[in-house]
Amino acid sequence: MYVCVCNAITDREVHAALAGGAAGTAEVFRHCDAQVRCGRCVATMRSMIGDHSCAGERRHVTDAEPVGTGKGTHKRCRDCSR
Ligand code: FES
Repeated sequence: MYVCVCNAITDREVHAALAGGAAGTAEVFRHCDAQVRCGRCVATMRSMIGDHSCAGERRHVTDAEPVGTGKGTHKRCRDCSR
């Protein structure tokens, strides 16, 4: 699936960037040798980055409590610092 249509960046490439240590959208773009153009993909990338950063704590998700309200709400894992 294409995450960034402007740069033809797929979800696999984003996951590869995250596995390679990218921790933000700028680092994902840098990993993919691309630059933000329209910006429509940024929210999706941020969501993927958030999912990736909590991946180690997913085993605790049953204990998770919602954090925040509205857009950007996520479940905080027991050991998640976000
Ligand atoms: S969809 Fe990624 S910059 Fe346009």
